[in-house]
Amino acid sequence: VERKRSEWLQRGMEIRKRVRMKNKDSVITAVQQQDYSASVWLRRRDKLEHSQQKCIVIFALVCCFAVLVALIFSAVDIWGEDEDGITEDNCSRNCRVVLVENIPEDISFLDNATSHLPLSAGLYSLLDKAIRAVEIVSPLWLLNSSDYESSFQPAARQGRALLSRLQGLKAKGVQLKISSGMIDSTELKILAKHYAEVHYVNMTALTKGNLHSSFWVVDRKHFYFGSASMDWRSLATRKELGVVVYDCSCLALDLHRVFSLYWGLQYKDFIPSFWSKRLFALYNRDEPLELTFNSTKAQAYISSSPDVFIPKDRSTDLEAISRVIQEARHFIYISITDYLPLLGSRTHRYWSRIDGLIREALILRKVRVRLLISFWEKTHPLTFNFIWSLRSLCMEQANCSLEAVNVLYQCLLMQRDGTVQGINHNRFMVTDRAIYLGELID
Ligand SMILES: *[C@@H]1O[C@H](CO)[C@@H](O)[C@H](O)[C@H]1NC(C)=O
Ligand SMILES: *[C@@H]1O[C@H](CO)[C@@H](O)[C@H](O)[C@H]1NC(C)=O
Ligand SMILES: *[C@@H]1O[C@H](CO)[C@@H](O)[C@H](O)[C@H]1NC(C)=O
Ligand SMILES: *[C@@H]1O[C@H](CO)[C@@H](O)[C@H](O)[C@H]1NC(C)=O
Ligand SMILES: *[C@@H]1O[C@H](CO)[C@@H](O)[C@H](O)[C@H]1NC(C)=O
Ligand SMILES: *[C@@H]1O[C@H](CO)[C@@H](O)[C@H](O)[C@H]1NC(C)=O
Repeated sequence: VERKRSEWLQRGMEIRKRVRMKNKDSVITAVQQQDYSASVWLRRRDKLEHSQQKCIVIFALVCCFAVLVALIFSAVDIWGEDEDGITEDNCSRNCRVVLVENIPEDISFLDNATSHLPLSAGLYSLLDKAIRAVEIVSPLWLLNSSDYESSFQPAARQGRALLSRLQGLKAKGVQLKISSGMIDSTELKILAKHYAEVHYVNMTALTKGNLHSSFWVVDRKHFYFGSASMDWRSLATRKELGVVVYDCSCLALDLHRVFSLYWGLQYKDFIPSFWSKRLFALYNRDEPLELTFNSTKAQAYISSSPDVFIPKDRSTDLEAISRVIQEARHFIYISITDYLPLLGSRTHRYWSRIDGLIREALILRKVRVRLLISFWEKTHPLTFNFIWSLRSLCMEQANCSLEAVNVLYQCLLMQRDGTVQGINHNRFMVTDRAIYLGELID
């Protein structure tokens, strides 16, 4: 192409030269050129018309196919599976809930501080209860720490212990189903050898993002939900918080639907425009599930994101977070890894949605806000600007209270070994009326 171009340029220059020298000659050249270009254009048009016809035929075929697929999707449950008789009409709403936590060994609280069930114990109890199927979604699978890592972090062995427990499910005749965004995990290969079914979700192709969800559903009856992923650090060096809920088939059924959505996306590189009816949410922000947690009446629903992954009736994370903040009357306590209301890693556009809601709560409703934020190697310097900005809003205002604390302990861990991420991985929000647990957008 380059050569052609320079040829043409040269020819053009020659023509211009000739124009200047002889007027007569130039007319002929011009006509010849016009002729040539006209014929080229005609030939092109011919081809275009031909390919347009082809296009129309292919388009019609694609349309037919799409309609067919849509019909099949709506009529048949593509992810049909054996029913175990529990439906949303006769599921259990009398749930037992246990908070589970991972607290790194280095952190010591006062002796009289409330302590919760360790995360590993909670997960083991779920595995003990499993009869039919354990379904797991996790962004990471890194349970087997290296010998080097376990040499200075004894708690890292818990990851290996959990891995061998998962392998042991086969002997109990329990099915292990895993949806994962991680393809090159040795752990998943080991588990797949031990009778686990692993479905790979290519989030790069689907949303250019990552799979951040992390939960377990056991027999569509019990579940775990929280910040920890299947990573030895979640059982050793990170601060994590989650809940294990027993005998709660109503909510477990709904969580199972989220699992089924990921499960069905195996090897897909596009997001289906029709979701099966079996993936529609059972409960949402406007129609939450009425249930009891340890005999206390409560309402609950499961939200999800991003928007393209949301079948009918499911609330988005942003909707859920907004409602929780807006309904708070007295206090909002938030624990997150990073507080950075910015979009885009380079452009840094201000993303005002949640930051704005917090400002409203502080200024207009005089709600007390406390932020617990990690201070770690990846803390963005702009974080401090946003915190200062929130703080200065409250200056000299009666009944306006913002407290922000950076969790510092991980620096100690960092010094020991740069590769160990000891961070406050917790993501939750507590208000006087609600709890939001899971993945705050980060
Ligand atoms: C729940 O209802 C379905 C039909 O709606 C029935 O097949 C199933 O046996 C019921 N399960 C229980 C545990 O009652
Ligand atoms: C709920 O009850 C169980 C025992 O039935 C208990 O272990 C658990 O701590 C209770 N949960 C809460 C949040 O109090
Ligand atoms: C815990 O113990 C410390 C000192 O032993 C005491 O000052 C504090 O009030 C106690 N906290 C609670 C919640 O009992
Ligand atoms: C975990 O890693 C260690 C060393 O890296 C290796 O010896 C061991 O076989 C691994 N365990 C499993 C279950 O793969
Ligand atoms: C995931 O999708 C991306 C983009 O379409 C592609 O480049 C990559 O090879 C896919 N990965 C796998 C494991 O299929
Ligand atoms: C601040 O709160 C106190 C107690 O809740 C109340 O009496 C007072 O009127 C409030 N002041 C303002 C300016 O809202």
